[in-house]
Amino acid sequence: MNRSFASDNFAPVHPRIMQAIIDCNEGHQRAYGADEMTQEAVRLFQEEFGNDCDVYFVFNGTAANVLGLKTIAHSHQTVFCSNVAHINVDECGAPENYTGCKLIVLPEQNGKISIEHIRPYLVDRGVQHRSQPKVISITQSTELGTLYSPEEIRAIADFAHANGMLLHMDGARIGNAAAALKMPLRALTRDLGVDLLSFGGTKNGMMFGEAVIFFDRSLSKEFPYIRKQGMQLASKMRYLSAQFVALLSDGLWLKNASHANAMAQLLYRRVEEELPQIPLTRQVEANAVFALLPKETIPALQEHTFFWVWDDAKGEVRWMTSWDTQPEDVEQFIAVVKQHMK
Ligand SMILES: Cc1ncc(COP(=O)(O)O)c(C=O)c1O
Repeated sequence: MNRSFASDNFAPVHPRIMQAIIDCNEGHQRAYGADEMTQEAVRLFQEEFGNDCDVYFVFNGTAANVLGLKTIAHSHQTVFCSNVAHINVDECGAPENYTGCKLIVLPEQNGKISIEHIRPYLVDRGVQHRSQPKVISITQSTELGTLYSPEEIRAIADFAHANGMLLHMDGARIGNAAAALKMPLRALTRDLGVDLLSFGGTKNGMMFGEAVIFFDRSLSKEFPYIRKQGMQLASKMRYLSAQFVALLSDGLWLKNASHANAMAQLLYRRVEEELPQIPLTRQVEANAVFALLPKETIPALQEHTFFWVWDDAKGEVRWMTSWDTQPEDVEQFIAVVKQHMK
């Protein structure tokens, strides 16, 4: 398949990460995370986020979100998220199934939630008939390719803490957000009051693997058991950890994410220049571009360069760039779309 604009999940593994997997394929190592590679990966995460955080690895983003949330919330409690949140629409009900929590879904604006929509749910705190507010979950960068500003995150964190709640960040694309905002990972998460971070590796060049990071160690005590019961404890963890070591070494995460973002900006600019009749529907702040296409053109375009339809009724499509997107991919795509617009 040609390089597509379908998803950063469609991209291959970055060669340095593939090499790291090969390089760690020597001899025996302790299993279940007691190996040297895992210690090194945890050390690198602690270098980024602080020595006093707890870091655990899982295979995928759904597990990072669900097992993390399960660790910090009971089944009689509520998790607030946006209507477009991955935990709401793309995890097959796993958050509800595993945590037992009530998900309260708030209307997104630019992909983001606002505390004004949470306030009304706080009045019944302490009423035994009601699910109790516990976690606010935000996605950074958002499912719509937009960004929460540091001020917005700080405001949500302060609101959460003032009301006895915790802040979870689905950072499947936290690298793209940090690159776009030109902020260190810690400054964009922990220092703004995030309590629990799902840190994405897969979309930023890894084969598989996400990290669950607790910034308050008192919250993480149950996680090892919840991960094992959740079937996400890798026995040969060194192969997962080796990928994180490569991703966090020599700024690879930043290089990959910055490149993907730059390619989204290029695509956005080139559509504006060459295809002014195509409305772009969302702000392009990370590595996704959303556009409205005449519906009849979509199948042929997908045939040439695959992408997903976001909203079938409107003809809204999502074009996503990755660490390996090339400027010529953008130019070729623009040329093909132009042909189909005639
Ligand atoms: C915002 C967001 N969170 C989490 C995930 C992780 O999902 P998966 O379980 O497929 O790795 C994704 C993947 O599409 C995502 O877009």
